[in-house]
Amino acid sequence: MRAILFVFLVLVATAAASAEGEVQQRQAMMKEIAEAMSQIDGMFRGQRPYDGLALATAAETVRARAGDAMLELFPEASAGNDSQARPEIWERPEEFADLAGHLERLAAMVAEAGRANPDASSDDMRMRPGTPMGGGSVLGGRGTAWPAEGESVTAEHAFHLMMETCASCHSSFRLRRD
Ligand code: HEC
Repeated sequence: MRAILFVFLVLVATAAASAEGEVQQRQAMMKEIAEAMSQIDGMFRGQRPYDGLALATAAETVRARAGDAMLELFPEASAGNDSQARPEIWERPEEFADLAGHLERLAAMVAEAGRANPDASSDDMRMRPGTPMGGGSVLGGRGTAWPAEGESVTAEHAFHLMMETCASCHSSFRLRRD
């Protein structure tokens, strides 16, 4: 009996430790994503010199952490502690997974454009005037027009949609810290 209890306690302790590990890992992963996004943002705004390969590397940093890689760091019911994850993640897992998937695909488009234009930012990088941005906003995030499968958008447009993806997911699935 005592041995069983001991095994049980060890299992509980291990589960708690790994949940904590995942929270730290995903927060660190989100920070890496945010850092890469600010590098890309700097180039589109002209605050840093354009470098297509550096742009592609930053976009790859995001891509590699989006999609399934992101979902893996949100195992069932790993909210609580110092986490800002909302329980809705596991109540509406498809919506959460879709957003992680959009981010992955958009980041891949930006990376591809960077590789194709290593030296100079070309017309297919820049947002064209009048490009529809969808009804979504940074505040609401609903109604964003994600590009359809196979549809191509300019790199800058894809980058704006990446930022809307962050905002959409955070507004639905992340707790606000006061
Ligand atoms: C699929 C949903 C989703 C997407 C997409 C997403 N995030 Fe997050 N993000 C979250 C959740 C949930 C948390 C809270 C994680 C926690 O505390 O356990 C978070 C936390 C963060 C944090 C805080 C990390 C910390 O130190 O606590 C930052 C910064 C962040 N995200 C940046 C971004 C950026 C930038 C993007 C877009 C490029 C993005 N996220 C895309 C869901 C998402």
